[in-house]
Amino acid sequence: MKFSQSLIDELRQAQQVAVLTGAGVSAESGVATFRDALTGLWFNFDPELLGSAEGFSNNPPLVWGWYEARRYSVLNAEPNPAHRAIAALAKHVPKLTVITQNIDDLHERAGSERVLHLHGSIFQPKCSRCDLPYASPLDSPPEVEQMLEPPRCTYCGNYIRPGVVWFGETLPTDIWQQSEQAAITCQVMLVIGTSGMVWPAARLPMLAHNAGARVIQINPESTELDDYVTETLIGKAGEVMPTLLQAVFTR
Ligand code: OAD
Repeated sequence: MKFSQSLIDELRQAQQVAVLTGAGVSAESGVATFRDALTGLWFNFDPELLGSAEGFSNNPPLVWGWYEARRYSVLNAEPNPAHRAIAALAKHVPKLTVITQNIDDLHERAGSERVLHLHGSIFQPKCSRCDLPYASPLDSPPEVEQMLEPPRCTYCGNYIRPGVVWFGETLPTDIWQQSEQAAITCQVMLVIGTSGMVWPAARLPMLAHNAGARVIQINPESTELDDYVTETLIGKAGEVMPTLLQAVFTR
């Protein structure tokens, strides 16, 4: 893949770079993206219902089972070359901010040190009523997709839910503010593997674009963000990212 000289120069000279990732960055690790994920038991369900408090209260075992299947998939996945290239970018850029919509830990396992998780973590379940973090270790998630009764809160007895941000819920304020700040102040933003369909995360590339940053999208398909990016590098993150890193930082 060939990159323009201006892209190479701007990335090489950038003092601040922000990276925004979505489910596509973990696709090559074998973790299904959200809008691809509805197979098997969940085929007939809308991801926005499964990922909502309403969906959970309608059918807790269905939703808990869905997240447990994702947790199984994440536990059995390994970071891919895109996660590793993003971690390696920190060695070249004075200030790198990694922002992810993903609830997996693959950036951290690849070596990224501080990752802003806009949508929480699949490994931090909490009570659906009193919000208390669930301290007991979770059982190993089953290999086979199935509905599962969620555990109960040891304090109030209500169902435990995944510690993720669901549709209609507010993002953690401090994480959002740091992400917004990074978007406004960066000279280059890399937007990797997101459909740009979910707000407010999709606002970050727009903020960066409006503040004059070069916004580089990496995705095999066109997205809702096409109008807000300087260019799209069409391809898989695990292939484009290492090539880009090599072109920019290997002299
Ligand atoms: P989506 O599933 O909406 O989109 C995944 C994107 O990744 C698509 O644009 C694909 O074209 C792209 N993609 C697939 N394979 C790729 C690869 N190998 N390399 C690069 N890109 C690839 O996932 P998100 O945009 O992350 O929210 O979804 C955003 C949010 O919607 C999620 O965080 C989740 C979901 O519902 C909550 O849970 C709140």
